[in-house]
Amino acid sequence: MKQELAAACKSLHLGYVMEAYEDIPFNDRSEYLLGVLQAELRGREISRIRKLMTKARFPQMKTLEGYDFGAVTFPAHCSRELLTDLVFLERKENVLMLGKVGTGKTHLATALGVEACRRGHEVRFFRVHDLVATLQEKYQAGTLNRFLRELQRAELLILDEMGFVPFHKDGAELLFHVISECYEQRSVIVTSNLEFGQWNTVFGDARLTAALVDRLVHHAHVLAFTGESYRLQHALSGVK
Ligand SMILES: Nc1ncnc2c1ncn2[C@@H]1O[C@H](COP(=O)(O)OP(=O)(O)OP(=O)(O)O)[C@@H](O)[C@H]1O
Ligand SMILES: [Mg+2]
Repeated sequence: MKQELAAACKSLHLGYVMEAYEDIPFNDRSEYLLGVLQAELRGREISRIRKLMTKARFPQMKTLEGYDFGAVTFPAHCSRELLTDLVFLERKENVLMLGKVGTGKTHLATALGVEACRRGHEVRFFRVHDLVATLQEKYQAGTLNRFLRELQRAELLILDEMGFVPFHKDGAELLFHVISECYEQRSVIVTSNLEFGQWNTVFGDARLTAALVDRLVHHAHVLAFTGESYRLQHALSGVK
């Protein structure tokens, strides 16, 4: 009987019934059938979220649980809920996270990305420098368009560490192209240690920088991260 059940589940592509069906409590047939179907749905949902998280390629797992918003200054028309309920994502708005090192920008950006995956959205996370290197590589290999199409599947693009390392002109242009493609189509989160005024130093070209900042800032919430580095505070307090 168990073998037949397994074979029937396989034919019907029911991947989660076999491991759940013996443990489902019930009073009547309808309740049992519902329990079985719900177990299958739950299993599929978890698997879908796992796949989304893998595709997003977060460098570290960080969540909103326990995140201290004390150091985050919100601009007008923005609030903690607008971020954590992913209202900005629904509205295809951008979030720029600016502030000193170790103030929790990457943590919050990642946590919002993880939350988006949990709610079924496609996310891609990149350190800006890695993305630019990949864009240049794909361009040289003649596979840039395929890579860009894949990128366009994302509803949220997270660009971490804008400005750590300056790039060459062709790299800056490729990045500009990616950001232009996102404009009003999908949300972008950018983290940076630099004020906008210093972005020229990264892109080298004042006109390109102005055009890029213009696209990013339109429909954007600019958050300021203040305070001391978390890393430093923890090191000083002896917490590992
Ligand atoms: N507000 C916070 N609540 C909880 N943990 C935090 C907070 N801010 C920072 N941390 C923790 O401190 C460490 C440093 O934070 P994070 O990497 O996000 O800083 P950052 O602003 O991205 O720094 P950098 O500019 O150097 O990239 C991480 O381990 C992070 O989880
Ligand atoms: Mg960071």
